[in-house]
Parts: sequence; structure tokens; C-alpha cells
Amino acid sequence: MRYLSIRHRLLLGTELARSVPALASVFLVALCLSGCGPGAIPEPTAADQARASERWPEVTLADLTAGRTLYVQKCSGCHSLYPPSFRAAEAWVPVVDKMASKFALEADQKETIARYLVVMSTHDAPLARPAD
Ligand code: HEC
Repeated sequence: MRYLSIRHRLLLGTELARSVPALASVFLVALCLSGCGPGAIPEPTAADQARASERWPEVTLADLTAGRTLYVQKCSGCHSLYPPSFRAAEAWVPVVDKMASKFALEADQKETIARYLVVMSTHDAPLARPAD
């Protein structure tokens, strides 16, 4: 530290501060992976499809399953996968938007992943249509 200029020390401080949220979320995921057990990334069922169709009438079980596959493939590169129950339904859409800005993800893939996470964030609550 003695040999670092003030400017370098400031830069170092900023970088440490930036990495804290990332480290914290990695830690949270590690906790969850050991505590949430198998099925943390659940397979959608016909009952999930029925709930989903109240909001997206055209959605099929295959669409939701494709969302799970894409989620596992596209979202596991930088950190462990968060279980859908990690966020409330409506909170997933902005999170997926934020994540998609970090890497190349086609718009329809983003939508498919977001639907899977929104639907699977809860097993029993009905999916309200967002206010528009
Ligand atoms: C290019 C690397 C990268 C990819 C790919 C990525 N993430 Fe992230 N993700 C991060 C980083 C870095 C953080 C911590 C900082 C932040 O929240 O922006 C994070 C944090 C998160 C968090 C916790 C923070 C919050 O706002 O809830 C969730 C949930 C998340 N990611 C979901 C996803 C999903 C869903 C995808 C796939 C669409 C994804 N991530 C793909 C880098 C990535």
C-alpha cells in the first residue's frame, strides 16, 4: 500500500466495493444449493402450465420446459442457478432484463426464460396479469 499512489488506492477501493455484491450473491447461492435440496430448478408440470395459461393463453408445457432448458444453459455461466422461488413472480422480469444486458441473449429466449421463472416462482398462487 505504501507504494500505491492515492489514485491507485481509490481505484482499488472502488473495485473491491464493486465485487462485494457479486461475492455476496455467490455466497447466497452456495448456501441455497446446500440447503434447498434437489428440485431447486423444478420441472414444470401440467398444473404449472394451467396456471401459466391464465396469463399467457397460448403457452404450452413444452414452452415452459424449453424455458427451463434455456435457463440452465444460458444463466449458469457466471454464477450458480438461483431457484425460481428466490424471487417473487413480478421481480423476475427486471432481473432477467438486467442479466440479459450482460451477455448476448436473443429476445425470444429472454422471454421464454422469464416466463419459466415467473411461473415457477410459486406453486400455488394464481398468476395475475400485470397492470398495463
Ligand atoms: C455474463 C455473466 C452473467 C450471466 C450469463 C448471468 N448473470 Fe446473473 N449475475 C451476474 C452478476 C455479475 C451478478 C451480481 C451483480 C448484479 O446483480 O448485477 C448476477 C446476479 C444475479 C442474480 C441476483 C441478483 C438479483 O438482482 O436478484 C440473479 C437472480 C441472477 N443473476 C439471475 C440470472 C439469470 C436469470 C440469468 C440468465 C438470463 C443470469 N443471471 C445470467 C452475472 C451474470
